[in-house]
Amino acid sequence: MPATITALAHYLPPDVYTNEWFAKRLDTNDEWIFSRTGIKERRFAKDGGTSDLIVPAAQEVLKRRGIGPEEIDCIIVCTVTPDHFFPSTAALVQRKLGVKNAWGFDLSAACSGFVFGIITACKLVESGAAQKILLCGSDKMSSIINFDDRAQAVLFGDGAGVCLIEKSNDDSLGMLDFRAYLDGAGEPHLHMVAGGSFKPASEETVKNKEHYIVQEGQPVFKAAVIGMADVSYEIMERNNLKAEDIAWLIPHQANLRIISATANRMGIGMDKVMVNIEKYGNTTAGTIPICLSELYENKQLKKGDNIVLSSFGAGFTWGAVYLKWNMND
Ligand code: UT7
Repeated sequence: MPATITALAHYLPPDVYTNEWFAKRLDTNDEWIFSRTGIKERRFAKDGGTSDLIVPAAQEVLKRRGIGPEEIDCIIVCTVTPDHFFPSTAALVQRKLGVKNAWGFDLSAACSGFVFGIITACKLVESGAAQKILLCGSDKMSSIINFDDRAQAVLFGDGAGVCLIEKSNDDSLGMLDFRAYLDGAGEPHLHMVAGGSFKPASEETVKNKEHYIVQEGQPVFKAAVIGMADVSYEIMERNNLKAEDIAWLIPHQANLRIISATANRMGIGMDKVMVNIEKYGNTTAGTIPICLSELYENKQLKKGDNIVLSSFGAGFTWGAVYLKWNMND
């Protein structure tokens, strides 16, 4: 029996930062940001860590499913902004939620975190190794943004999406297929220089601002357009899905132009593409579960809907998942 999402919710910090807020501080403007990326606003958390973004969404998931924390047997946190190197953010989420009988771990795949995470969680559940997995996609990007660099500061935001993964009660519904890829040749184009074992934190690394995101926009853009579009098309072909069979494409929200190129390659209209980048920017591992949760809350997902999740991120990492929606609204 396939595994599936049985409950979901999201959390966004309340404070909104507009393009105009950036324009007052940096040499940028709303026209450049919106026309190049599709972003108007993003949210930044004032304090706390990534676990504090996850916990309210996770509590809502438990409430919606009508279960207590003791029923969770595994927690996976997909993030590149863990509260600490160790212990894992999964451990902090476990403690803060009062989960008693679980194991868990963090999963690092940048913007593909949630896609890699749902594949991992579904396969654990399908195999019988776990029954109820709390799958969390979240990043507090404001903790690694260089707010003096206009080329990156305007792109990202903070947020969390959480799903409960369980066995499906119908073998035609749930996660039916996936394709995922990893190519370390992408490292120079999107990475953080210091703070890891290769270049530990020092006075010099702080002075040189080496604890922030480094992104060369153009090469990442080109690789993302090809990677996300191709893998999404590949998942359609493997499953004999025509454009008209797909109810929703839920792409990672990094840039509206990358999203449009993916939809174009799949031959599907933008009316079937979930886009909320305008409101939240790129929340890295948070984008896809936040999109799913917003669609669900707006009652736009129907049982039996064919859904394609699609992502591209640092590594490079990329992938696509074919879900047949299992929940009634
Ligand atoms: O989610 C993880 C994966 N990441 C991505 O998928 C991001 C992929 N890359 C992109 O989305 C785009 O490359 C960006 C949105 C980051 C940049 O857009 P672009 O069309 O590739 O612009 P560019 O980097 O080629 O820069 C064009 C110009 C440059 O000025 P010059 O050299 O032409 O004079 C930049 O300095 O725009 C300038 N620029 C800005 N101007 C105003 C860069 N950032 C800004 C800014 N405001 N915020």
